Amino acid sequence: MGILRELIIEKIKNKGKITFAEFMQMALYHPEHGYYNSNITPVGKSGDFYTSPAVHQMFGELVAVQLEEMWQTLGCGTFTVVEMGANAGWLCYDCMRYIKSEYPEFYKNIQYIIVESNPHMRKKQQELLCENDIFHEKLSWHSYTEDGFSFDDVQGCFLSNEFADALPVHRLIVKKGEIKEIYVGYNGIDFCEIIDEVCSRELKGYCADAELPLREDQIFEMNLAVCGYLNHVARKLQRGFVMTIDYGDTSYRLYQNNGREGAVRCYYRHGVNRKYYERLGEQDITASVNFSYLINVGKGFGLEATGFVKQSHYLIALGILEKLNRVRDNPETVLKVKNLFLPDSMGDVFKVLIQHKNVKNPTLSGLKPLHTIKLGI
Ligand SMILES: C[S@@+](CC[C@H](N)C(=O)[O-])C[C@H]1O[C@@H](n2cnc3c(N)ncnc32)[C@H](O)[C@@H]1O
Repeated sequence: MGILRELIIEKIKNKGKITFAEFMQMALYHPEHGYYNSNITPVGKSGDFYTSPAVHQMFGELVAVQLEEMWQTLGCGTFTVVEMGANAGWLCYDCMRYIKSEYPEFYKNIQYIIVESNPHMRKKQQELLCENDIFHEKLSWHSYTEDGFSFDDVQGCFLSNEFADALPVHRLIVKKGEIKEIYVGYNGIDFCEIIDEVCSRELKGYCADAELPLREDQIFEMNLAVCGYLNHVARKLQRGFVMTIDYGDTSYRLYQNNGREGAVRCYYRHGVNRKYYERLGEQDITASVNFSYLINVGKGFGLEATGFVKQSHYLIALGILEKLNRVRDNPETVLKVKNLFLPDSMGDVFKVLIQHKNVKNPTLSGLKPLHTIKLGI
């Protein structure tokens, strides 16, 4: 932690001040000491937070149901899933195990690419997914940098769960009706925040396009990294879907309902705090995803919005209640699984955005209106 702090201070001294995105990039992704490149276990009981694949295998099984329908929609040809930031590999494991047992035709046509920047996580994923050799031949590992992906064009689905929220964001603030940027400086003792002009024209342009409901002193975030990601996705995806699962909301709901502090926060041992400049490399820094922004920038790259729903909606539409009914004699499982869809747990905080490219008016089960669903329980 001390080394990372010194490295960030050195960078600030060289440049005078750095953007919050540069700070977050170093805190999370410094090749050796960054939170997501160290040997920390971020997810699970002994980590800092839970993610849906860590809660129960039903999550991955229902994602598999949605992927199979996408495969059918695309005409049952070769289908590549590209999963971003796969942590220990649970989502891939649960999806692929389910597809192998329930959808043998789909299984024949599927390839699964994991894009992972953390070398320790890659190793864990390979241990889980390759050692027992259940679907070894279907998997490959690749990388993503700001220059793009390390694989050829694909037809299929780019899939991510809690990836977009972990990308570095710029922090901005409204002062006297104008948008300014919050930089990170160093006052000789500690980190400090410096309010100054927005760092680039590009960022200024994106702020103007973002239709943010802004009030004086409102802090908000711009995730240029996710914009770059969607641009590269749109170039690699010949035909298919982008499924983004994450916490966040539309721009209006994110900034109108929340306080003025913005949507950046830290997770440490299952507690939330806003002490961004402490425990460097030892705690997660994250920003709720502005899905309006993803929908709008996606359109500019040729990705049409198929639909945007709460995770509770998505899982119920895909059959989580029927699955739960089948295990109703096992209260431990019922208590675990309910966390995935109950509103005060992950159900309403998490959202699912599906976008498509070169597919005509697709209709997908996970997005269908709830009043049209007949529950089979
Ligand atoms: C919050 S974790 C996601 C956890 C996982 N998807 C789950 O549901 O349990 C964010 C992940 O994104 C990964 N990540 C961030 N930038 C990346 C990049 N450029 N390429 C690949 N993975 C990246 C991080 O290493 C980290 O594993």
